[in-house]
Amino acid sequence: MRYGEGLLEEILRRTDLVQLVGKRVKLERKGRVFWGPCPFHKEKSPSFKVENERRTYHCFGCGAGGDAFKWLRETEGLTFPESVERLANLAGVALPAWTPEEDARETRRKSLYDIIEIACVFFEDQLRARSGTEARDYLKSRGLDGDIAKRFRLGYAPDSNSALKDHLSAKNIPLPAMVEAGLVRPAEDNRSPRDFFYNRVMFPIEDIRGRVVAFGGRGLSPDAKPKYINTGETTLFFKGRQLYNFRAARAAAHADQPLIVAEGYMDVIALSEAGFRGAVAPLGTALTEDQLHLLWKVSPEPIFCFDGDEAGTRAARRAARLSLPHLLPGHSLRFVFLPAGEDPDTFLRSQGVAPMRALIEKAKGLADVLWAAETEERDFSTPERRAGLEVELEGIVKQIRDPKIADYYKRDFSERVFKAFKQRQNTGPGGSPRADGARRGGAKPDYRNTSWRGDRPMARPPEQGVSPAVRRSLHAVNAKGASRQAKEKELLGLLLTQPGIIERDTEILARITLSDPQLDRLKHELLHLAASGVRLERTVVENHLVRQGMGVLAEGLQHQLAVRRIIEDSGESGLDEAWHRAVAQLDDPDFSLHGELKTQRDAAFRRYLDGGGDADWDEVQRLNGLIRAEGGSQQ
Ligand code: UTP
Ligand code: MN
Repeated sequence: MRYGEGLLEEILRRTDLVQLVGKRVKLERKGRVFWGPCPFHKEKSPSFKVENERRTYHCFGCGAGGDAFKWLRETEGLTFPESVERLANLAGVALPAWTPEEDARETRRKSLYDIIEIACVFFEDQLRARSGTEARDYLKSRGLDGDIAKRFRLGYAPDSNSALKDHLSAKNIPLPAMVEAGLVRPAEDNRSPRDFFYNRVMFPIEDIRGRVVAFGGRGLSPDAKPKYINTGETTLFFKGRQLYNFRAARAAAHADQPLIVAEGYMDVIALSEAGFRGAVAPLGTALTEDQLHLLWKVSPEPIFCFDGDEAGTRAARRAARLSLPHLLPGHSLRFVFLPAGEDPDTFLRSQGVAPMRALIEKAKGLADVLWAAETEERDFSTPERRAGLEVELEGIVKQIRDPKIADYYKRDFSERVFKAFKQRQNTGPGGSPRADGARRGGAKPDYRNTSWRGDRPMARPPEQGVSPAVRRSLHAVNAKGASRQAKEKELLGLLLTQPGIIERDTEILARITLSDPQLDRLKHELLHLAASGVRLERTVVENHLVRQGMGVLAEGLQHQLAVRRIIEDSGESGLDEAWHRAVAQLDDPDFSLHGELKTQRDAAFRRYLDGGGDADWDEVQRLNGLIRAEGGSQQ
């Protein structure tokens, strides 16, 4: 072991455990002991205590307990050496280097870290400087504000050959070190050394300890070529062994959040901002086996959420194949396929958080995806082709090293083959099998709780007025609209019977939206009348409406069964109460047209999740359009 007992002892002695724990748990002092609610289980009265004297924490409720090293492991997912290093730093205890060579290498690496850190701060400052206006505007246009920029330490590499190089030179950093850090291109042919990144938004890439080791840079203009450039392989940066945002994602996965693998930096940031903190991305290369193992260290089933285009699908399938030799019991991959043309970033911005969460919860299993890759959009109308499929499926099974899993896949695939072709025979000659297992496979999940509601949209759709045409089309699609309409009629019937309410509650009436255009017109007449200052008596109101050509409507409204019942049951005095009840009901979002449209939209979305095709997705979009047109938020 690298660290002796004495050293660990020293670190623990110098660590203020109460302060460390206190960063996460609200502690209260009782004598020498501090108490708080246990972070490891839900509880009402605090049974979690921390003692600096004993250098331990302990929960009497769930039995969790340990020292500062264990605390960091349990709450942040740090490995033991990482926790030693963290606490040693906090406590100001120097850690011994192993050997002189190692010591020297460590020092050199350290100085590289320092250089990159200086560059990172430089880029951050540039983003905030005047010359960063364009970059700031760009980030804003993509929905990223200053707080997010700060959290991800986003920066800007100015449009210059040597801005960074000059900045580093001024700090006495030698050119070879800048080159080694991947920040400056060495002199070549007859060009002098120059900055590697210029006129790009900078995404710092941190290693597992939170040290910046590399950068990704995105060109500002849509036609920047290439769109992204990344630091090349350096002493500190091994593309294939690191992941963007891995450190934060690991902590999130430790707190039971899903570990999500996206394709791009922007996707990771959007996911993370939407609350999916366990988001990571490979670094400008296809996923490697090393990265797979890194993912599995943190979560047994990382979820791949790649772009909904051909490249994204291909990349996901590639990852699926890559995982085969490494599968272990209970240790697999899952996949989310976004609608065509969407990536997690665009999907979150256009659809909001809840649909994303629904997709993630219903992520497909590996077997489904492998099956889909072999069968989707392919024709198996001849025996030879079906035999070919079986050979390919056998090839997949052969790559699985774990015998139990291989056996499971073998059975699973033969079942799928059997089902697909049995179905085909049922559909008669010429019918092609619906062999799109990625969508249809597996047990039917329960979507009852899947809904847009209750979530904050990332970008609010523009509010618009409602044209009569839209209203009519709303009625056409609206099954529950009928009951809302009945309630609207009842409400106006009540007002016509007891017009005094209009005078008293003019503002309430003005606020209520009526979905039926005719009723809405009548409402406006009542408001006009109230505004004109005449005393609102029944006959006055009736005469006015007759003159406006609404006599028949008004008559009908007053004689509705619902209104008559109220009067029969509780006399005129019941009208006022009924009016308040009707207002409350019409105000209830579940009772609104939005509510109904949303129910339909949610149903279409469930069909989509359930394996429906583009038609269902189009329906979701269409209904969202209507909801927006009606002035509602999509949530
Ligand atoms: P995308 O083009 O899907 O990135 O590439 P993105 O994040 O959606 O980009 P935006 O939204 O247009 O900004 C995904 C990832 O592939 C790498 C980058 O890591 C990027 O985040 N990439 C992409 C490159 O390395 N070079 C490129 O030219 C393009
Ligand atoms: Mn994108």
